[in-house]
Amino acid sequence: MKFFLHTYGCQMNVRDSEAVSAVLSAAGYVAAESEQDADLVIVNSCSVRAKAEDKALGKLGLLCASRRDHPGRLVGLMGCMAQRLGNEIFKRVPTLDFSVGTRRAGAIPRLVERVIAGERGISEFSDPNEVPDVPEAHTEDGGFSAFVTILLGCNRRCAYCIVPDVRGCEYSRPAREIVAEIAALTRHGVCEVTLLGQSVMNYGRMNPVWDDAIDPPSPGGYREPFARLLEAVAALPGILRVRFTSGHPSGCTAELVRAMSTIPQICHHLHLPVQSGSDRILKAMRRGYTREQYLDAVGRLRSAMPDFALTTDVIVGFPGETVEDFEQTRSLMDAAGFDNAFIFKYSPRPGTPAAAMEDDVSETEKMRRNQVLLSDQDLRGVRNNELLVGTVQQVLAEGRSLRNAKRWAGRSDGNKIVVFEPVPGIRAGAIVPVRITRAAPQTLYGEVVQ
Ligand code: SAH
Ligand code: SF4
Ligand code: F3S
Repeated sequence: MKFFLHTYGCQMNVRDSEAVSAVLSAAGYVAAESEQDADLVIVNSCSVRAKAEDKALGKLGLLCASRRDHPGRLVGLMGCMAQRLGNEIFKRVPTLDFSVGTRRAGAIPRLVERVIAGERGISEFSDPNEVPDVPEAHTEDGGFSAFVTILLGCNRRCAYCIVPDVRGCEYSRPAREIVAEIAALTRHGVCEVTLLGQSVMNYGRMNPVWDDAIDPPSPGGYREPFARLLEAVAALPGILRVRFTSGHPSGCTAELVRAMSTIPQICHHLHLPVQSGSDRILKAMRRGYTREQYLDAVGRLRSAMPDFALTTDVIVGFPGETVEDFEQTRSLMDAAGFDNAFIFKYSPRPGTPAAAMEDDVSETEKMRRNQVLLSDQDLRGVRNNELLVGTVQQVLAEGRSLRNAKRWAGRSDGNKIVVFEPVPGIRAGAIVPVRITRAAPQTLYGEVVQ
């Protein structure tokens, strides 16, 4: 039986899909080249905004209807929307075969077996407090870069956010398990890892992650668990680059700044979602920092790393956001000097504290604010990238450029896409020095320094 996974949402879902692929392959199922070829299609869903759920629901509808041309095709759902809706999903998509919540991806082969045996409409959901069953990351050959979830769930409960409801409480995976998983990935050619967590710097705060009898603290004394994990991962043979996401200003401690600026494998890039530049809105959002604290964290990172790259997420149109609040966000974005920003229009999520507030910014106004921030960011992006013209960037070569097969593409330490002319002997998965000759808002162009 051939399977295909459709993945919506964040990198955590991408990672979970890879894990499910690995589990299904181990159980004897075969990955299909495309959805058309698949006898089993699983939609890995996201709940973060209403639009994300609409996409997954639309896809499920089409897949169920596709059984006309593909009789007996099995359709399953997993991920955040599965967890949020529970068995309610079978009212919305009556011919769905199975649904599996977060933290239960390991149960998928078992449910598939039952569906093959003739059961329909079956499900398994998790309790937010349960210790998750984390399937191994994929270890197929071919990729140089891998995501590894280190911290599941979230305890922060920002007023607008559904993630704590669907992903449960914070749980840090034991450090030894993470290190072993990454060591296994390096044996399959992975040289760059991105450590994932909703508030990734909280790693190790809620549950013990080190067994000190086996893993004594590094000589040199106390290390915060997250910084200590960064050291352990960076020290693995074959690991050239370590990234992590998402950050929170409260985690940008002196120890973290020290780790980032002194461990050579750690990229000088941070995704540090700010959400708003207005203290009033930040407070209503329950983000746990002020505008000044955010900018202070950025200042400390920049002064330790002159080549530091910074990206962010922003929500426009949170309940009560006035034009003045919005202008505060604009000015913060200028002051922080973001290299890239993802802008989202506020979407009320059922059961969150913000859903009880009036969604009082009109759709047109949300759209306008969204456009303003996007065009500000385009200008800022080109300006930041132009400053890199003439510099030499260390680029992890990924292979031929998608747009122009004569060229190669890769990513810089600061996570920017760099397109360059290949040189003889170039190899995907190697880090090459590239002198930047031209800058566009999202891309840098250059030549390999021989
Ligand atoms: N844990 C990450 C964010 C995860 S969700 C963090 O706190 O940094 C990814 C992004 O989606 C958020 O940063 C936020 O900008 C956006 N988002 C979350 N809930 C939203 C909502 N209800 N409406 C619009 N955007 C939302
Ligand atoms: Fe959501 Fe806030 Fe947790 Fe991020 S930190 S996942 S925005 S509750
Ligand atoms: Fe979406 Fe779940 Fe990620 S809600 S953003 S897929 S944690």
